Amino acid sequence: MRAAVIGAGYVGLVQAAGLTHLGHTVTVGEVDGERVERLREGDIPIYEYGLETLVTRALGHGLLSFTDDNVEAVAGAEVVFLTLPTPQAPDGRADVSYIDQVVDELAPVVAEGTILVTKSTVPVGTAERLRRRLEELGSGARIVSNPEFLREGTAVEDFLNAERIVIGSFDRADGERVAALYRGLGSRILHTDPTSAELIKYGANAYLAARLTFANALANLAEHVGADILDVVEGIGLDRRIGPHFLRPGPGYGGSCFPKDTKALVAIAEDAGYDFELLRTVIEVNEQQPRIVVRRIDELVGGLDGSVIGMWGVAFKAGTDDTRESPALAIARLVREGGGSIRAYDPEASHPDVEMAVDPVDAVKGADLLLVATEWPEFMRVDLEQVAAVMRGSVVFDVRNLLDPEVVRAAGLRYHGWGRPRI
Ligand code: UGA
Repeated sequence: MRAAVIGAGYVGLVQAAGLTHLGHTVTVGEVDGERVERLREGDIPIYEYGLETLVTRALGHGLLSFTDDNVEAVAGAEVVFLTLPTPQAPDGRADVSYIDQVVDELAPVVAEGTILVTKSTVPVGTAERLRRRLEELGSGARIVSNPEFLREGTAVEDFLNAERIVIGSFDRADGERVAALYRGLGSRILHTDPTSAELIKYGANAYLAARLTFANALANLAEHVGADILDVVEGIGLDRRIGPHFLRPGPGYGGSCFPKDTKALVAIAEDAGYDFELLRTVIEVNEQQPRIVVRRIDELVGGLDGSVIGMWGVAFKAGTDDTRESPALAIARLVREGGGSIRAYDPEASHPDVEMAVDPVDAVKGADLLLVATEWPEFMRVDLEQVAAVMRGSVVFDVRNLLDPEVVRAAGLRYHGWGRPRI
């Protein structure tokens, strides 16, 4: 089939490359002409494992093309995926103006029956609103909601091994046409109405955020009562009704999705006349997490003022160069506010607000404390003898519980995990 993707961000690029992998022909429309030039050369502007291989292969087979003209992108496409940003507006609501503009731009030019698919996360009710807009404009285009569930860093794998494809349509025949594009995946396809599909997306992210926040709260409690959170979550997760995933405690959730989507869902609920108190609390508790971490740093170094902290990781999680809403940045800010200084190393990410070191050992030179803020596996392979030799102090505070405490101690350092007994 012939498809178009509008917006060459990480969702759009993975969607486009993934569809070509399934044998479809895809044209991507992207307003940033410079980005288009780079993409045509197979130069991927984001770090996403496996994406470059798929894009290069698709370009080689002539299945993938890029243009800075959206109208040109949709010519001959049966299905058009809208993968545009929906940033957070100051009031917490998602800003859908990019989507609205593109729908207005494409409505008069697409052929009768062309399906416009909302792929990026849009407020509940958007499909219905766009359907009415198309009617107003006298366009014969159709609307389908097909939310994405891709995680940054493993987006290609998530696309190719999708656990479910959710397709929300006003007319089942439209839904079936979109489903046909994914047939090669063999994934479970769930057909719903568009509003339910939109709520599934928000519901999934909000549930995961709440579940993780629960694990973080338990870890905070474990700190006080002297339990080992790793054993606790393992013991909880062995219950099949609960399962082991998304219970790894840490400095709080971040990234471009959870913080934005949880706030947007609270606003959606508010607009609909429902107070989503549970989710409001999750957001508040998560926002406190970096403060709790910094309070602990303060204790460990005997007062933040004048302290030097070496931080491993600034990305919001491992496997990505994304620092949006990263808890590591919130921690760095709070350390500085307390009079401490911070130097960080990250294998992929950097941020102008944080002084970046060239390697993990460089980051801890003269430091009183090493904070492990992101769970990059390479940190487990750093020579801790070298770390101990260059640090001023000897405390390792591993908020992700990544390192092996025995290995840390063997290097002559003091290990502190998160929610683990203090030994
Ligand atoms: C999330 C969802 O997992 C995807 O399904 C969804 O498609 C995506 O948002 C989106 O809406 O686009 P992502 O933001 O890439 O994906 O990140 P996750 O891997 O879900 O992690 C979110 C946050 O939770 C990170 O800060 C991570 O460090 C934290 N986390 C996650 C933990 O602290 N512990 C865990 O056990 C799991």
